[in-house]
Amino acid sequence: MKRISLFTICFVIFIACWVFLRFVVGGVISVPIPGSVISMYMGLVLIAILVHVSVEDSRFKEFIRPIHETLVDENRRVRRIILAVLIPLLLLGYTYTNIAQKANPPGDPRDAHPSPPLELTYKDEVIGSMQDVENPHRHYEKDDPEKFKSHVENGRRVYYQNCFYCHGDHLDGKGHFADALNPLPANFQDPGIIPNFQESFFFWRISKGGPGLPASGTPWNSAMPIWEDHLTKEEIWDVILFLSDYTGYPYRTFGEGH
Ligand code: HEC
Repeated sequence: MKRISLFTICFVIFIACWVFLRFVVGGVISVPIPGSVISMYMGLVLIAILVHVSVEDSRFKEFIRPIHETLVDENRRVRRIILAVLIPLLLLGYTYTNIAQKANPPGDPRDAHPSPPLELTYKDEVIGSMQDVENPHRHYEKDDPEKFKSHVENGRRVYYQNCFYCHGDHLDGKGHFADALNPLPANFQDPGIIPNFQESFFFWRISKGGPGLPASGTPWNSAMPIWEDHLTKEEIWDVILFLSDYTGYPYRTFGEGH
């Protein structure tokens, strides 16, 4: 039986070390290791192998014998030709994959805040124009703070009975179901949400939910339920008060006196 050459053994050890770092340590045992760190370790492995084979003259000769044979031996012509073709091809492939222009995935085509319809409705009842409808309980904030407080409290009840599973205990979009949803539940603590919308917009979003979105609000199915099927108009207006009361962000209003 032909003895396995020292070169082959070293080659196998080198590849085994790479597989161990890349897949066993960086996968089974721990999180994936960055490529640059793997390269550094592989550099050390290479140095260790070279030190090992070069401590004795005879061992070094034995190590480079297959390389020498491949390069000059008449019997190794086929191997030589294969390597002469393969090595440039591998380099070509490597260079190509590094410099080739990558096709970027298309941008997110979903409009997270789609344009609302002109008319605000609850079920089929028309409430008014989207621009003008105000929260009927908002004026209590000035006129009757006690009454306002009771509406906010009712909104809190509505929220913790229906919404926190998805929108989170702290309204930050991190409810227990959130991880499973795409798109993610809205995060009301994000300063870009509440201050950018009128209360009527929120009424529309809450009453119609994901299924009531126009085409620009798809293609992903929003898991936001159709709340007009379960909540009264008053409950929806109250939960809207609660969202802004809890986060401290005021809704957008237009013009003075609104
Ligand atoms: C089953 C999970 C789920 C529940 C329960 C839920 N939501 Fe949502 N909600 C979502 C998801 C997902 C989105 C984001 C996708 C979208 O815009 O439709 C969303 C979006 C919204 C938006 C739109 C915000 C924006 O920036 O346009 C509002 C307002 C809202 N939810 C309020 C509520 C209220 C109030 C309740 C409780 C009455 C509630 N949600 C309950 C999943 C849920």
